[in-house]
Amino acid sequence: MPSPRVLLPAGLIEARVHELAAAIDRDVPTPLHVIGVLTGAFVFVADLVRALRGPLTVDFIAASSYAGTSTSGQVRLLQDTTLPLDGRDVLLVEDIVDTGLTLQALQDHLRARAPRSLRTVALLDKPSRRRAGVRLDYVGFTIPDVFVVGYGLDYEGRYRNLPGVAELADE
Ligand code: IMP
Repeated sequence: MPSPRVLLPAGLIEARVHELAAAIDRDVPTPLHVIGVLTGAFVFVADLVRALRGPLTVDFIAASSYAGTSTSGQVRLLQDTTLPLDGRDVLLVEDIVDTGLTLQALQDHLRARAPRSLRTVALLDKPSRRRAGVRLDYVGFTIPDVFVVGYGLDYEGRYRNLPGVAELADE
């Protein structure tokens, strides 16, 4: 059974989320339209929106490309957004960017809906495995090629409630 080893403690993530929010507040016109990628980004979205000072709206989108600890390479849209995007300044909020295939599919999908601007923030970036040239405007932490759980991220549905990010390693 794999066991989680803390990589990013909750306090470190909290401090970084506030730095990201301050940078986004400085750069992005308001009202901001936040779109969180379910399910993994739900914790990050909850913390980030409460750290942002400007007026904003929140929506979610759900996509899936993972089975176990590896990507299938096929991105499926499981649930679309509910609010119109035309003329809005959108901030797409991802938990982690690995190959970049999920983000590329979501960015293309949202761009086709004519937002005024589209920026992306990812809490975690694993650039060593990138297969798609995606633009990330804000990154919380760059991490090595390890499988991580916690702070919303799961392994087969578990560990999302860990307060920090942990590496899932074999015993
Ligand atoms: P990508 O399409 O390969 O960039 O994968 C992005 C998605 O895969 C993320 O939104 C996560 O849901 C999932 N994912 C990628 N790496 C990890 C990980 O280390 N732990 C948990 N989920 C991951």
